[in-house]
Amino acid sequence: MSEQTVALVTGANKGIGYEIAAGLGALGWSVGVGARDAGRGEAATARLRAAGVEAFTVPLDVTDDGSVTAAVELIDARAGRLDVLVNNAGIAGGLPQEPTVVDPATIRAVVETNVIGVVRVTNAMLPLLRRSAAPRIVNLSSAVGSLTRQSEPGAMTGPISAAYAPSKTFLNAVTVQYAKELGDTDILVNAACPGYCATDLNGFRGVRTPAQGAAVAVRLATLPDGGPSGAFFDDDGELPW
Ligand SMILES: NC(=O)c1ccc[n+]([C@@H]2O[C@H](COP(=O)([O-])OP(=O)(O)OC[C@H]3O[C@@H](n4cnc5c(N)ncnc54)[C@H](OP(=O)(O)O)[C@@H]3O)[C@@H](O)[C@H]2O)c1
Repeated sequence: MSEQTVALVTGANKGIGYEIAAGLGALGWSVGVGARDAGRGEAATARLRAAGVEAFTVPLDVTDDGSVTAAVELIDARAGRLDVLVNNAGIAGGLPQEPTVVDPATIRAVVETNVIGVVRVTNAMLPLLRRSAAPRIVNLSSAVGSLTRQSEPGAMTGPISAAYAPSKTFLNAVTVQYAKELGDTDILVNAACPGYCATDLNGFRGVRTPAQGAAVAVRLATLPDGGPSGAFFDDDGELPW
């Protein structure tokens, strides 16, 4: 088995996920570029390889059991283990999302990708992660999922939402539960908020670059042994739940 660190980033064909893949690749890691559309994945992999990253495409739709199983098989055949999983894939879900008018189908779709997708991918990848000497799991969350922040009068917490923001609250809760269950292993599981970045997700209205947003995920992917687990971070430090 190679000494080179092996990572998988879901939804890495564009936006913050692409920049996380670039950041991990710059460390000399082998990076699986998760993409639900194989063509978009190949295009991103080609760009990363042109920039010197040892990237490989992993066709992966986080809502599809068969796709996830095939991704596990691909990484197993190529590397025999997984050191770092970055659960980055996510959707905003479209409008309206105000609780009084939201279509339940919108909530269901957002939770299926942003929460259940993370559980599906994480559990499928766990056997490969358990073969690593220093496994790390990073879940891309958002400060809009912080109930503490949402409860602060006048806080900048994004649009009122019964789908996207609560999906990140749910993801935070799931992150804590994983950290508890895996607390007696060397697997560190944390949530990251990239800040408000200009990507497709928000019509490029964000004020940070995707590369700036990627930095916190790269930091949590490279935590030393004994580092924090079951916590929520942005660039400035720990965030409240
Ligand atoms: N941008 C922000 O300001 C911001 C702030 C806080 C948190 N976040 C979080 O950061 C993460 C990345 O978001 P982003 O802003 O970079 O958004 P983005 O540019 O829209 O990228 C989202 C990525 O997820 C992929 N994806 C969506 N559904 C998928 C599925 N079912 N299976 C596999 N991949 C799927 C997309 O693939 P396609 O290209 O095929 O659609 C794309 O690669 C998300 O979890 C988001 O919630 C973003």
